Amino acid sequence: MIAVQDLTKQYAGRMAVNHISFHVEPGEIVGFLGPNGAGKSTTMRMLSGYMPPSSGYAAVNGHDVFRESLKVRQSVGYMPEMAPLYLEMRVKEYLKFRAELKGLRSRDMRRRVGEVMEQCSVTDVRRRLIGNLSKGYRQRVALADALLNQPPLLILDEPTNGLDPVQIRQVRELLRGLRPAHTILLSTHILQEVEQTCDRVIMIHRGRILANDTPVNLTRKLRALTQVFVEISGKGDVAAQLETLLGVRKVNEELREGDWVRYALRVEPGNDVREEIMKLADSQTWKVRELHRQLPSLEDVFVELAASEP
Ligand SMILES: Nc1ncnc2c1ncn2[C@@H]1O[C@H](COP(=O)(O)OP(=O)(O)O)[C@@H](O)[C@H]1O
Ligand SMILES: [Mg+2]
Repeated sequence: MIAVQDLTKQYAGRMAVNHISFHVEPGEIVGFLGPNGAGKSTTMRMLSGYMPPSSGYAAVNGHDVFRESLKVRQSVGYMPEMAPLYLEMRVKEYLKFRAELKGLRSRDMRRRVGEVMEQCSVTDVRRRLIGNLSKGYRQRVALADALLNQPPLLILDEPTNGLDPVQIRQVRELLRGLRPAHTILLSTHILQEVEQTCDRVIMIHRGRILANDTPVNLTRKLRALTQVFVEISGKGDVAAQLETLLGVRKVNEELREGDWVRYALRVEPGNDVREEIMKLADSQTWKVRELHRQLPSLEDVFVELAASEP
């Protein structure tokens, strides 16, 4: 659905996007994750056919974004970071106007405008002026606009930026509801967002791709230590015994409640010591009332990868 090869963009000699390559398969939801200034919006503008690359190649649905930008724009629903909504227009009027621009036939137009308004839950504000809507509603109107001509690919630049938690959840559910008919590339600087919504994450930092994998694989590959928490009531030096288990780097006593002690174990990656803990507890006749493993978060991954960059 998207093929990007060695894509670059320079602004006045400054590299905003620096030789990136990646693919997005049909039906995937891919998250573009990176801090402000990483190059997310620049990449998305190029992929939507709104800005030519400085060099490299990108194709959407088999169409070159540079040579066939018109075709690209027809097959992409692009929601820019600052959606250029007409504030003095009413919601339904605006969507009709956009549908006309996108070349929908008048017969289909009424139906599609009604459908996307339903899909994005803006039907109840269809007669309101866009300028009087809350940010959450405006965002959904922009999304409705992007959906009008039923594009197979959606490119959404920070679709939840500036929304409150309730609105964020609504947008997320809306996006999940769009699969599998749509392929989605969305950008965000919020890690939980990709963790919860995306099949795959492309981490971008200073115009370069740091990582490209599923959220689970990214956290697995990491050198960062996994933590295991265990609450034990038992005799002897429990911490010292836990420390003898293979893969356990360090044991900290976290909390004491009567006879119960909660330990935090730092464990080397690739080791799951939970079974060994149970065996040890059994042989020592300790009581266990909590045992769980906490993998590193995507945030840990990002910090580690960004730090290892030259
Ligand atoms: N129109 C522009 N002119 C000059 N520099 C720009 C322009 N747009 C973005 N930049 C610069 O390019 C880099 C990447 O920006 P951008 O793609 O907007 O990143 P992101 O969307 O990840 O925050 C930043 O350093 C930004 O300042
Ligand atoms: Mg941006």
